Amino acid sequence: MNENKLTALLNQMTLDEKIAQLTQLATPFFKGASDQGEITGPMVDMGIDEEVVRNTGSVLGASGARNVINIQRTHMEENRLGIPLLVMSDIVHGFKTIFPVPLGIGCSWDLELAEKSAEIAAKEASVSGVHVTFAPMVDLVRDPRWGRVMESTGEDSFLNSQFGRAFVRGFQGKDLTQDHNRVAACVKHFAAYGAAEGGRDYNTVDMSERELRETYLPAYKAALDEGCEMVMTAFNTVFGIPATGNKKLMRSILREEMEFKGVLISDWGAVKEMIPHGVAEDEKEAALKAITAGVDIEMMTSTYVKYLKTLVEEKAVDESIIDEGVLRILELKQKLGLFENPYRGADEKLEQEVVLSSEHRASARKLAAKSCVLLKNESVLPLKRNQKISLIGPFAQNGDILGPWSWLGSKEDAVTLLDGMKMKVESSHLTIAKGSEIESVSEEQLLEAERVAEEADIIVLALGEDSEMSGEAGCRANIKLPDAQLELVSRLKKLNKPMVAILFNGRPLDLHGVIDQADAVLEAWYPGTEGGAAVADLLYGDENPSGRLTMSFPYSVGQVPVYYNHYNTGRPKGAPDAQVRYVSQYLDIPNDPLLPFGFGLSYTTFSYSDMTLSESIMKPNQPITVSVTVTNSDSMKGEEVVQLYVRDVSGEVIRPLKELKDFQKIVLEPGESKHVSFVLSEPQLRYHHSDLQFDSDPGTFIAYVGPHSKEGMEKSFTLVK
Ligand code: NOJ
Repeated sequence: MNENKLTALLNQMTLDEKIAQLTQLATPFFKGASDQGEITGPMVDMGIDEEVVRNTGSVLGASGARNVINIQRTHMEENRLGIPLLVMSDIVHGFKTIFPVPLGIGCSWDLELAEKSAEIAAKEASVSGVHVTFAPMVDLVRDPRWGRVMESTGEDSFLNSQFGRAFVRGFQGKDLTQDHNRVAACVKHFAAYGAAEGGRDYNTVDMSERELRETYLPAYKAALDEGCEMVMTAFNTVFGIPATGNKKLMRSILREEMEFKGVLISDWGAVKEMIPHGVAEDEKEAALKAITAGVDIEMMTSTYVKYLKTLVEEKAVDESIIDEGVLRILELKQKLGLFENPYRGADEKLEQEVVLSSEHRASARKLAAKSCVLLKNESVLPLKRNQKISLIGPFAQNGDILGPWSWLGSKEDAVTLLDGMKMKVESSHLTIAKGSEIESVSEEQLLEAERVAEEADIIVLALGEDSEMSGEAGCRANIKLPDAQLELVSRLKKLNKPMVAILFNGRPLDLHGVIDQADAVLEAWYPGTEGGAAVADLLYGDENPSGRLTMSFPYSVGQVPVYYNHYNTGRPKGAPDAQVRYVSQYLDIPNDPLLPFGFGLSYTTFSYSDMTLSESIMKPNQPITVSVTVTNSDSMKGEEVVQLYVRDVSGEVIRPLKELKDFQKIVLEPGESKHVSFVLSEPQLRYHHSDLQFDSDPGTFIAYVGPHSKEGMEKSFTLVK
């Protein structure tokens, strides 16, 4: 169908039909759905009747080829103009083959594998009937109390931009019309949802426009530059106005400046939430604000269905605004090829072959191994196959390692740590005890754990947070491991045996009580379907840890937010002329996080030498090259993430102490050295000035190359303009 035909179709639609296209409903509303509900009670209260459902534009959360085909077939029969439904779902880090949570994927610093994970998720989703995924989530995160940090790749806007792009490439491929193994992506949550005050979900966000543009917006923009088809609004406020009704954010910044031409969808219920936010008196005003801001699809509330027609009749809303939204939705349907084939990739037979295939599981295992970060190792890892191991803890034999937003994944399909360990050692070398529940422990459990551990050479503790403790609405003010597990750790510590802690969780934790007790700590995040196998690969040295943190681990929650690219202040701690007391510091804890951004150990040792700059002067059209030699000075092959940071020593406005500008993940054989070079050019030094202009300033800069944000070699250069 060409553009004219789409316009012709639009012209045939009644106003009611158009408004229903702008409404998204969950699966139970639809005839033919395997989980169809009756349109009674709450649905009637929502103002949804069969007529609305017949004309609705999209369905949320449907999957399964047969289910989707049934829904679509019935819909096509009942819709007057035969307009197919768009099927949208949250396929965030895998469909049924679950990959590590995005925070884990971020820690892999591996854009290729990240792209591959999205490609696989898209393939499984599309054969199961999904057309659009609500991903990637690129919200920059600095507060580990917020449950949704696990959905983001971390605290750095450059890295988040790179991952955002990789995910979009993986989901969408090159041609959505031809390639029905891909799905359209929807970047979220526009904008700055990650900055919720106090790390409490849905809470207020308030920051300067300069900070918003400098730190929070780049990753959304990067996803759009990669061709991302859709955008989802955030629940929070921006400049005092909820994002969903924020005309400046959506019309001026998103549509005009960023030139976004695709479909903008509200988050679940976010249109109606403008009432409790206190910017709309009632549903009618909420509808008016959302449509005026340019929200095309209202997800799961019905203010559009109830009030848009009246608003048009009252001339508060011009019908052309509605037409624009409908046209964008029809265009997306067209791009996905739905007018030619409304079932698109849905294919029951392929679904059987593709979903959870051994090839997909192998990719998940590989990425899970790359996502884990070794935080401490006092010569206990890797384990040896002849050692007797006691595997203890609530995650020893627990399939709850898929993490939030893996609603189609099944714990039963997950390889637990015990399963993974059994792949490596004889069962005579392995004993097991639960030790505690996630949040409670009994004396019997502790005694049993001690008894089992007595027999072992090494204790491997599998600890963490259950998946309900993070994700949406999963915020915690105390970010330590639950007391029950800390008690288990301290009881076992008394046995004086080497102890390794594996952590399954979704946020940077306050590690006191673990990192000071265990001899080795491996952060496994929620590693996904193949998690146990991947962790066992690392424990036994079949893989060498190469993950590096993309979110700082605070020393304690009192430091939060704590992030590497902070400002210096006028009274920095540790400056040569600093006073003892009147400096920016805590009296009781250090300023630095316990573990910084970029940090992660390996079983091998990398050393950095010979840092050089090709020139000490950079000019706008003359980039410089920053080089360093990295050597594997140990006896095991390993991967290092070589990180390039820059400091702008003096700007028109204050500038971060360091900013990540580039990185390379390199493989080094034992004893091997590699020369690593980065090209650094003037556009990479630009930033938002006080008048919001994006430009660089001439002057002194320092380039740092090293293994993480707190360590490295440095050289300065001058930008001359
Ligand atoms: C609410 C979440 O905030 C969003 O990320 C998700 O995509 C929608 N629900 C739909 O499930």
